[in-house]
This record gives sequence, C-alpha cells and structure tokens, in this order.
Amino acid sequence: MNITEEKVLEALQEVIYFKAGDNIVNLKMVHDLKIDGNKISFSLVFPKKVDQSNEIVVNRAKKALKDALGEDLDIEIGIKSEKDIGGGPLASIKNIIAVASGKGGVGKSTVAVNLAIALSKTGAKVGLLDADIYGPSVPTMMDLESQRPNATEKDGKTRILPLDKYDLKVLSIGFFVDPEQALMWRGPMASKALEQLFNDTEWGDLDYLILDMPPGTGDIHLTIAQEYPITGAIIVTTPQKVALADVLKAATMFRQDKIYIPVLGLVENMSYFTPEELPDKKYYLFGKSYSESFAKRLNIPFLGQLPIVEGLAEASDAGKPAALLEDSIPGKAFKELAGNIKKGINALKSK
Ligand SMILES: Nc1ncnc2c1ncn2[C@@H]1O[C@H](COP(=O)(O)OP(=O)(O)OP(=O)(O)O)[C@@H](O)[C@H]1O
Ligand SMILES: [Mg+2]
Repeated sequence: MNITEEKVLEALQEVIYFKAGDNIVNLKMVHDLKIDGNKISFSLVFPKKVDQSNEIVVNRAKKALKDALGEDLDIEIGIKSEKDIGGGPLASIKNIIAVASGKGGVGKSTVAVNLAIALSKTGAKVGLLDADIYGPSVPTMMDLESQRPNATEKDGKTRILPLDKYDLKVLSIGFFVDPEQALMWRGPMASKALEQLFNDTEWGDLDYLILDMPPGTGDIHLTIAQEYPITGAIIVTTPQKVALADVLKAATMFRQDKIYIPVLGLVENMSYFTPEELPDKKYYLFGKSYSESFAKRLNIPFLGQLPIVEGLAEASDAGKPAALLEDSIPGKAFKELAGNIKKGINALKSK
C-alpha cells in the first residue's frame, strides 16, 4: 500500500489523548511526520515529558497505524514536551531554579527570596514561587500577608495574576488558603494546588523563576522534579558537619534516573559573622567549614558562603529582605551569589 501523510493522520485520529479529551491529531500533538516507504516517524508532543500516560498513547498510536496500514510497518515515535518545542504554559520563562535542602530550617526561603531580589537588581525579570505548600513563608517575608492575587481571563480560561512586590512577580499558596487548612491536604491535592500556581498563572516573560521548595525530599519534590521543566537546583546547607548527609540526600534526589535536574551548586548559609563596624572581618562561629570540599567530592560547584545577619529574622518577619539594601553585607553576598548562579546557568546552556 502506498502510505501517505493523509492516511497516517486519518489512522492517528483514532487515538484519543484522554487527558485532553480529543484525538492526538486534533490536539496537534503529531509533529515532524516523515514517511519513507513503510517507515513512519514522528514526535508526539505531550504537556509533560515524563508521564505514565505518554507510553500508553505511543503504544496506541503504533497499534492504530498497524491496524489501518498493515503489520509490517517500521514505526518510530519520539516523545517531546510542549516546552521542548517552545510551547506550553511555562514557555515564557527562560529559567526555573529550585532552591532546596535535605533538611528544614537551613535558610531556603531566605536564600530564595533574597536571591530573587538580587537577580532582579541585575536587571533581570524575576518571579518567586513559594512551592512550600504545607509551610509557606513567602507571604510574610515579602510583606504580602493579607494580599490576594487577582485573576484574568485568557482564551476562555481563568488565569492567576501574581502579586508585584520589590520588582518581583510573587505567588504562594499562602495567598489563597490558611496554612492550617493546607496542612490537612493529602498529596494529590497539594500537587494539584501546585500545578495551578505553576500553570494557571500569568507569569509573563521571565528570565528567572525562583522556587522556594519545601524542606526535605518528599512527594512534592518528586512531583516538581518530574512535571516541571526545572533548569537547575541550588542546595542550601549550614556549616555544621551533620548537615552534609542532608546535602547528599538532596543532590541524590535531583540526580535520579528519569528526573535528572542539574545541580547548579551548593550554598552555605550562616557561615560567618561580620560586625557592621568591622566590615572586613569574618568570624567563623562554627569553625572550619566542610561544605566546599564536600561539594567537590559530590562534583557540584560551590556557590559561596552567606553571612549570619544580625536582625535578619526580624527583617524577614517585617517583610524587608536583606538583599534590598545592595551595599549592606548580606546585600553584597547575595549579589555575588546571583552572579555565580548566572554564570552557572550560562555554563549549563553552552554545554
Ligand atoms: N543568614 C542568616 N542569618 C541570620 N538568620 C538567618 C539566616 N538565614 C536564615 N535565617 C533565619 O533562620 C530561620 C530559618 O530560615 P528559613 O525560613 O529561610 O529556612 P528554611 O530552610 O526555608 O526553613 P523551612 O525548612 O522551614 O522552610 C529564619 O528565622 C531565618 O530568618
Ligand atoms: Mg522555607
């Protein structure tokens, strides 16, 4: 039989992508179709690259082609994500950076918020997404506690408009629900809420979207790592030796098979203390740091040390992140960190 594009597409119309409730041809999921004798190749473009249902659809497509055009076909189907072809709801975001740690309370939120501000001070367009569904701290740290984002209609769908603060686009589950309520949610509900924060939001053009991750290495982390196009992760730690096991846990999570997210590097928080009146002095209160040599052993870049900032907790609680003052000791440290991260991303992209 002479196989034509028309016949192939007709056969593929039998294949329903049940998640979107239509067939894969109508949904424009078939790309780069090539036919050479009995050889047929094309890509199927899915919302997410890694999803259990992708394989099912690929197998159905093969079966539909063989049923319609004969058993002796040589069929090659590639899987692509919308992001791969420059589409999808997050297409206007150039880089998504996850700020994570193996254990809680090491300063992820502090680093995420201040890094976002430091990056935006370099002229970049930056968003901040609080992915800590069960314990959001971005509303307090950004002085947005009783604020509620607006919504808009686009292509018949309701889209969330992130809040604008300190030149950032900011979103947190804390703007919508009482944290105690979110604590009662089961995994799927938390994932669904997160999906809305990511995909149903009008982020606009962004150079960086910074994700403040929840503590640890749980289900939410896996969901984020699998379902969203994360450019790279930053792991935050503290100088104590005991924190290193947690770094390993976090690094391993991002390096799992099928997930593989590049680790942009390790940041050590609360490393030293510099009194205002002695700006050139660094007092290492916890003694020698092991982070740098540990990063080397794990083969990840060391992105630098951040000072212990007197009054930082109070400034955070008052919603005035330290990086707002560029010439302060923490301001300079976050500026340096932002520079290192930019370099790390550029190096990744030129590989
Ligand atoms: N460099 C620093 N200097 C002084 N205090 C800091 C510093 N970094 C963080 N803190 C304080 O330590 C506490 C924990 O920080 P933060 O909330 O950023 O950690 P976290 O890793 O996000 O915690 P969680 O795991 O609960 O989300 C906060 O009170 C914060 O203000
Ligand atoms: Mg936090």
